Amino acid sequence: MTSLATMRIGSFELANNLFAAPMAGVTDRPFRQLVKRLGAGYAVSEMVASNTALYASEKSKKRMDHTGESAPIAVQIAGAEPAMMAEAVRVNIDRGAQIIDINMGCPAKKVCNKWAGSALLTNETLVGEILDAVVSAATVAHGVPVTLKFRTGWDTEHRNALRIAAMAQNAGIQMLTLHGRTRACGYKGAAEYETIRAVKQSVSIPVVANGDIDSPEKARHVLDVTGADALMIGRAAQGRPWIFREIAHYLNTGTRLAAPHLAEVRDVLMAHLLDHYAFHGEYQGVRIARKHILWYTKGLADAQAFRQHMNTLDTTDQQLRAVNDFFEQQMIRHERLQYSAANDGPDMETATVTLEEIAA
Ligand SMILES: Cc1cc2nc3c(=O)[nH]c(=O)nc-3n(C[C@H](O)[C@H](O)[C@H](O)COP(=O)(O)O)c2cc1C
Repeated sequence: MTSLATMRIGSFELANNLFAAPMAGVTDRPFRQLVKRLGAGYAVSEMVASNTALYASEKSKKRMDHTGESAPIAVQIAGAEPAMMAEAVRVNIDRGAQIIDINMGCPAKKVCNKWAGSALLTNETLVGEILDAVVSAATVAHGVPVTLKFRTGWDTEHRNALRIAAMAQNAGIQMLTLHGRTRACGYKGAAEYETIRAVKQSVSIPVVANGDIDSPEKARHVLDVTGADALMIGRAAQGRPWIFREIAHYLNTGTRLAAPHLAEVRDVLMAHLLDHYAFHGEYQGVRIARKHILWYTKGLADAQAFRQHMNTLDTTDQQLRAVNDFFEQQMIRHERLQYSAANDGPDMETATVTLEEIAA
């Protein structure tokens, strides 16, 4: 892909080839709707366990709530038991899933210990059984396409992305997303775009490149190096949902869009918060929103003091007022968004979610 050609998954034509990565604890329905509004062509839901006995929990119910979400509704499932995965497919299709994505990429200990997520990559026989079971339950039984998200292997001595890709294509998987790291690499080191390129060259189904894409220029680079059909962006969209339109503009024109006006950033965040509170409720809503507010304000002047203040507020009204006041102050200094790493303090990591937490 050299520019933003459109792509299909099954019968769904996607708005463009810039995808929001599934991030448990982050890409809830309000976030997915927001990024789609701001330029993402596709957004995958947070993973749900394949154990349907857990579906009565509040967390699972929210992860499976797709009310009002624009098509295609893509649900990601994680698990290690082919029969349970097939059952999870049936339940999620009943609840509105239009595309099923299998997670073989999550390095979280809770997920890996149960042989799900990226741990599956060490057991290729089981991978084959899961692919067959899920494709049979989704595509053969209901015409629902199945996609696979995976890493390049278990560790640098055991990279098997090419074999997994071939197995997936033969099993009827319709799109591959490859995070260019092994499981052992976690999030460390540079993403291996050459492996993504090799996978792209070895299969005929679309390949999505993922890992460390955090700017329009990096997006261009990853496209050029990998030859991928689409790009998936995760962490760089946290607190920066407009990154999709910035990348789209750059890929289409070769020029950078001006940074958003601070007034727009405030409006986007306030609208995000209202939708977020309506979805999560007053108590959970305020607490979960803290990390989003932190991400939106990271790098802005006085953000550190603002974050500390934010953690003392317990109601949605207080949070909204504080966010509005913060941006009023920012707008006195600047017209447009302007980040500076010098504004980030040592407590920057306090509100990020660990992968162990999100898999819990
Ligand atoms: C907080 C968080 C939660 C994540 N949850 C999931 C998940 O549920 N399923 C999944 O396949 N990947 C998950 N990932 C991995 C991302 O989808 C993506 O592959 C990874 O962050 C690399 O992309 P990036 O460099 O653009 O962030 C998660 C990542 C983060 C940071």
